[in-house]
Amino acid sequence: MRLDKLETPCLILDRVKLAANIAALHARLKRLGVNLRPHGKTAKNYDVLRMALADQAGGITVSTLKEAEYYFEHGIVDIVYAVGIAPVKLDRIAALIKKGARLSVILDSLAQARSLAKRARMHNILIPALIELDCDGHRSGITADDPLLVEIGRFLHTNAHTALAGVLTHAGESYNCRSIDAIRALADTERDTAVHCAAKLHRHDLPCPAVSVGSTPTANFARDLSGVTEVRAGVFMFYDLVMAGLGVCALEDIAVSVLGSVIGHQPKRGWIITDAGWMALSRDRGTTSQAIDQGYGRVGDITGVPLGDLIVTGANQEHGIVARRAGSTTPGPHLAVGDMLRILPNHACATGAMHDRYHVVDGGLEIVDVWPRINGW
Ligand SMILES: Cc1ncc(COP(=O)(O)O)c(C=O)c1O
Repeated sequence: MRLDKLETPCLILDRVKLAANIAALHARLKRLGVNLRPHGKTAKNYDVLRMALADQAGGITVSTLKEAEYYFEHGIVDIVYAVGIAPVKLDRIAALIKKGARLSVILDSLAQARSLAKRARMHNILIPALIELDCDGHRSGITADDPLLVEIGRFLHTNAHTALAGVLTHAGESYNCRSIDAIRALADTERDTAVHCAAKLHRHDLPCPAVSVGSTPTANFARDLSGVTEVRAGVFMFYDLVMAGLGVCALEDIAVSVLGSVIGHQPKRGWIITDAGWMALSRDRGTTSQAIDQGYGRVGDITGVPLGDLIVTGANQEHGIVARRAGSTTPGPHLAVGDMLRILPNHACATGAMHDRYHVVDGGLEIVDVWPRINGW
């Protein structure tokens, strides 16, 4: 079946671009001598993760227990659940570990470590945990100078039902960097924070097997990852307009798009109406603060070639308003009702979450496969 036979709106994944994005980051990290631990939260699909693991039996990162359970069912055993652990989730964690998952959690407080130990003892299992570090003030984690690092480390190491699996940090502020130099500098800080904390734990005779860093921008621009054992990255598989705006990828690298139909026109306003509203695109407006604001998404023709300066300027639940970007001098193309559009997303993770499957193409218009997504928690 071809794309023009699909009912719109729906999600399209270009496997050729996906494979190229994965190969490029693998090659880069290989040069830097560090493993990739792909993040399963962007794709939420096993076929993509299998490609991202480059068919090695490596480990992955997840952001929900639903992802952890789903990837484990597909044979991926080594999993880091990289969202601070809440006590209410520990029984599901225990169930996975009892089935044979090598699942680690992350935490940044003694309260979490204590509840982890208590629940692990109840289940008579051992739950490994990484200490989450704050390298850039983005959200959670403890700072490198906080004495809590060693206190939590000692607790995890000495308790019979927990293990200190290492340290982990995520330079989320890289999404707000204004230049490649700023991303490079943040990649250094991300590495330094993790390596410094690992050394501190070692000085206190505590183990630190994993020194885990990562975000797509810092993974792409880090120059030296000495002391780091693994890089976590997710959005690099698909890329998106936020990443293109940051200079992390080119528009042509974006592997995921929303297919919409033209459903009407408002000629006096220069608008084209599409059935891809925010239910298909998400409400993400991540490019607002960038040099080029892409509205709710950049519009291309059915083959994905950008149509002048057309973007989705407005989004209702099931309607998108397509118009030329403010200040554009490029004339808009004529589009008829029923014509199909490929809309590039601002944030691939957010747009993906609005859909339950990918229609996979190999660069052309023929659908070669349909892959499910494991949304929810
Ligand atoms: C803890 C953690 N690690 C890694 C990542 C991967 O970041 P990216 O999607 O930029 O590759 C994320 C993304 O949110 C994250 O929260």
